[in-house]
Amino acid sequence: MPTALVTGANRGLGLETARQLIGRGFEVVVAARNGAEGERAARELGARATALTLDVADPQSIERAARSLAPDLVLDALVNNAGTSLDGFDAKVASATIETNYRGAVRVTDALLGRLAPNANIVMVSSGMGELHHAAPELRRRLLERSLDRSALDALVDDFLSRVRDGARDLGGWPKNAYSVSKIALNAFTRILAPALRDGRRVNAVCPGWVRTRMGGSAASRSVERGAAGIVWAATLGADGPNGGFFRDGHALDW
Ligand SMILES: NC(=O)c1ccc[n+]([C@@H]2O[C@H](COP(=O)([O-])OP(=O)(O)OC[C@H]3O[C@@H](n4cnc5c(N)ncnc54)[C@H](OP(=O)(O)O)[C@@H]3O)[C@@H](O)[C@H]2O)c1
Repeated sequence: MPTALVTGANRGLGLETARQLIGRGFEVVVAARNGAEGERAARELGARATALTLDVADPQSIERAARSLAPDLVLDALVNNAGTSLDGFDAKVASATIETNYRGAVRVTDALLGRLAPNANIVMVSSGMGELHHAAPELRRRLLERSLDRSALDALVDDFLSRVRDGARDLGGWPKNAYSVSKIALNAFTRILAPALRDGRRVNAVCPGWVRTRMGGSAASRSVERGAAGIVWAATLGADGPNGGFFRDGHALDW
């Protein structure tokens, strides 16, 4: 039976993605930072769900979670869904947002890469707020350079964080919106990771659209079922599926 791990799967898009994957015949590891919440969600999802405590913003929690998985567990899909959107804009908000939405997804991916089956799908749950038109032209150019690697990307993100800490007006071309910065960085990481994957493994970024969850709010235009469907599409791509793209509803988006 194929197996998937979904982060932030105790509610919202993560929970619905887990539900739809189970409907497609998957077993799902329901990862949640609050262990009791994860257990509750796994019970709700039924016998093919198991809970895993995983705080993506805490490197030690990621290590513990990776170690606690059954030694023979192989993942056919990894959905980096956990995300946060905090009010306001200051150094604390910027750092917490980057740690969860960008660095959290990077660390979870690195910790679980060795668990991925050949042809496995990694999904980065991103956002239209991560589109590059939110960045200034020079930064956009640098983020799209083929030579951009992890350390260069991290240096650009660190530069954003230090400018925010210093109270600088000039944010180095980054938008004054930590959520947007975190998703721009997550998309750039998707482009960097894709060509490095081997044995048919793929990584794609997905925007679920504006979805009625705690984050999206009740005025959002989409149901959670519709938003999760685009994530499930990317998590279940076959061997001929795309690698290193950005999608909404299975349709390619411009970076
Ligand atoms: N809703 C939208 O309109 C929309 C649009 C574009 C993209 N997205 C993206 O979709 C993803 C899911 O969002 P959602 O709408 O389902 O939001 P949500 O209902 O607020 O759910 C967010 C989930 O992420 C978890 N989470 C937050 N920080 C975490 C951490 N440090 N470690 C582990 N889990 C953590 C939350 O856990 P707790 O319950 O413990 O807080 C919760 O399970 C996010 O990446 C978001 O950026 C959403």
